[in-house]
Amino acid sequence: MKAAILEKYGPADSIEIRDMPTPVPAENELLIKVRASGVSRAHTMMRAGTPYLARFAVGYPRPKRKILGTGFSGIVIEKGKNVTKFEINDEVFGDTALEFSANAEFLTISEDGLVLKKPHNLSHAEASTWGDGALTAYSFLFSVIKLQPKDTILINGASGAIGTCAVQFASAIGAKVTAVCSEKNFKLVKSLGAQQVIDYKSTDITSTDQKFAYIFDTIGNIPFSKAAKILSHQGVYLSPKLSLSLLWHMIKSKIFSGKKALFSATGMKAAAVNRKIMSEMIDMVTKHDIHQVVDSTYNLEDIPKLHKFIEEGHKKGNIALTI
Ligand SMILES: NC(=O)c1ccc[n+]([C@@H]2O[C@H](COP(=O)([O-])OP(=O)(O)OC[C@H]3O[C@@H](n4cnc5c(N)ncnc54)[C@H](OP(=O)(O)O)[C@@H]3O)[C@@H](O)[C@H]2O)c1
Repeated sequence: MKAAILEKYGPADSIEIRDMPTPVPAENELLIKVRASGVSRAHTMMRAGTPYLARFAVGYPRPKRKILGTGFSGIVIEKGKNVTKFEINDEVFGDTALEFSANAEFLTISEDGLVLKKPHNLSHAEASTWGDGALTAYSFLFSVIKLQPKDTILINGASGAIGTCAVQFASAIGAKVTAVCSEKNFKLVKSLGAQQVIDYKSTDITSTDQKFAYIFDTIGNIPFSKAAKILSHQGVYLSPKLSLSLLWHMIKSKIFSGKKALFSATGMKAAAVNRKIMSEMIDMVTKHDIHQVVDSTYNLEDIPKLHKFIEEGHKKGNIALTI
């Protein structure tokens, strides 16, 4: 089978498309013919091996898994003899997390991994992206915090993978969403449910006199010390990007009462936990007819070019490989 291979951490050109043996499912595993695979900012960071500390999870000094990619959608074509939850020809989607191996024509995953039956109204390209930015957005809003109707939330990076979903999820439950993005994305972000949009190129949001119960800094570029100025008294700052400064503020805010800073890593949670969150998320998605914003789809061979594009930091929503 064809797969995107990374032998050692490095720039996008380090990725090679090679022929690899098709994996064989173990007794509790599914063999999936991959139809689409999501590619995101998180994947480009794993490819580069940054932040350096992340290498202890993804492999030191080289990647533990050679085949890139985590998000997938496809069809079960074989199953191990102990598999009971899925049948041959089931359309499934999910995320392999630290097992990677999704940027390939075939992958194996335990039936107890993060894998669910694909709702019929989702295309494979769309479904392959739900386990990354979307799951992270849902997990922050409804597991790390319990966002409530009428809560005020500022979503920074509202046009990205996490941001486009966060805006839709928060709006779906009736929270008051202020979104920060560039002017070119105002129309998109308003159509996702944001009540107010602010252009990051012309306005420094931290110098306004508005206050928010929550700030979800999806791209992690507002330091907590600045964000705190526009948080309400017991307000909470959320970031999916860990830094030493954020860690310090998290420790401080655990000890002292008042404004809090929180981080969470979706891919490090147990598959059972993520599967439960993903099921809840798909219920909300179906109930509110929420869809992923898919910027574009590419072929497996395009993956180095695609990583370069994502690293520029200006994609809209998600990107998927169609395989
Ligand atoms: N902790 C976790 O579990 C977890 C999970 C997934 C991802 N992550 C991390 O979360 C971060 C965000 O990921 P993502 O996939 O959502 O990012 P992304 O999709 O690559 O974000 C791109 C978007 O950010 C916008 N943007 C760029 N600069 C901006 C600024 N200064 N202010 C506001 N918006 C700006 C861009 O809009 P313009 O084109 O208008 O500039 C673009 O639409 C990454 O660092 C990723 O590694 C963490």
